[in-house]
Amino acid sequence: MEGIRILKGEKPLQGEIKISGSKNAALPIMAATVLHPGEFILHDIPVLKDIAVMREVLISLGGRVEQRGNSIFIDTRQIDSIEIPDQLMRKMRASILFMGPLLGRFGKVRISQPGGCSIGPRPIDWHIKGFKQMDAVFQESHGFIAGKSSQLQGKEIHLDFPSVGTTENIMLGAARAQGVTVIRNAAREPEIVDLQNFLNSMGADIFGAGTDMIKISGQKTLKACEHTVIPDRIEAGTFLLAGAITRGEVKLHNVIPEHLEATLAKIDEAGFKVRVEGETLTLLPTDEKINPLEIKTQPYPGFPTDMQPQFMALMALAEGTSLISENIFENRMKHAEELKRMGARIRVEGRTAIVQGVDRLFGAFVESPPALRAGAALVLAGLAAEGETVITDIEHIQRGYEDLVGKMKALGAEIELISVNGEEKND
Ligand code: UD1
Repeated sequence: MEGIRILKGEKPLQGEIKISGSKNAALPIMAATVLHPGEFILHDIPVLKDIAVMREVLISLGGRVEQRGNSIFIDTRQIDSIEIPDQLMRKMRASILFMGPLLGRFGKVRISQPGGCSIGPRPIDWHIKGFKQMDAVFQESHGFIAGKSSQLQGKEIHLDFPSVGTTENIMLGAARAQGVTVIRNAAREPEIVDLQNFLNSMGADIFGAGTDMIKISGQKTLKACEHTVIPDRIEAGTFLLAGAITRGEVKLHNVIPEHLEATLAKIDEAGFKVRVEGETLTLLPTDEKINPLEIKTQPYPGFPTDMQPQFMALMALAEGTSLISENIFENRMKHAEELKRMGARIRVEGRTAIVQGVDRLFGAFVESPPALRAGAALVLAGLAAEGETVITDIEHIQRGYEDLVGKMKALGAEIELISVNGEEKND
């Protein structure tokens, strides 16, 4: 098992790094390649564990995948299986995104219940409901779900909630359905716009992504294409907070500032200035106190749930009391307990955390909860804490961040990867 050691916190980060391609954009786009038998080239794919699992799924279906640095070549011509192996499904919830492409291309899919971060129950009922509305039939037995449809039919689908994965999955299936599908109350995340752009490069006919109504005119045939995924707005937000919490100066390249509006608004409210120049963001240093915040997570363009844990780390050092409400996931406050071990004063009541700022955090031995942004929050706290911090169980951090330790080192952090017995790792 691997861990992260921060040898000495309280050191202002300084320097510049390039933000990686978006994990959450790359995952549905990789799944989309299954829709058409062909050879695809994707660029700016981050090297991290969730992407590796996606690669494994493609290979298990019969695809060929080669990754060279941040570019990935995917050949889906030989895909002949419609079943996602249970052990891969358990590793990553996003494997559910193969449901739309497999139903769209083969009219069949077989999966088990997905896994992923432990942040409360994450059912797939809305995905199934959407495909049922498109005339697919489902059967459940022995923990497996099998779906069938001789031809998905375009329909009007009104989502109960703007779920990101459900919106993407229905777009994927609808791209090869017969007729027109309209998704209402669709999620509006930038990753959905990127998926629309990719699918349209494949010859699909989709518009409206980025609004709450997406219209997909199904096509009989699609084609292979080449695509570069958008920058990762959550990685960018995490590094801005690393700069803020250490009172440093951090410059990030390869960012689309409009994708970070809610995050930037809260950083500003907390008392930090961010300079925006084209695709570059610079968090400027300040000696002023950190203002407490009221944060409510919401679907995009509201404040992202994926930035909630990192802001909790920053608020632990604010002057005053912050209120953080989690409205997307039921159980996404596990980082609070570990932050408390570092001296934070946090009370969690249901889905709300009351964070009473303290003057200082102290380095400690903490365990990353099985949720990747929670792990990132502990890294931020460690960077700001006095002395040494060791974070164990970091597999989930590695699921979502490309070379987090390397990038923090490039900004001057005294941080290293360690094996579980405390030795430095060289790989
Ligand atoms: C995606 C992101 C994740 C982010 C989340 C919310 C990817 C790979 N992951 O996850 O990083 O935190 O959006 O912005 O893009 N729900 C149901 N039934 C369903 C589907 C969802 O009840 O069938 C519930 C979930 O349990 C959750 C809420 O809806 O409480 C939102 O989930 P959703 O937007 O679907 O998130 P994901 O697509 O899983």
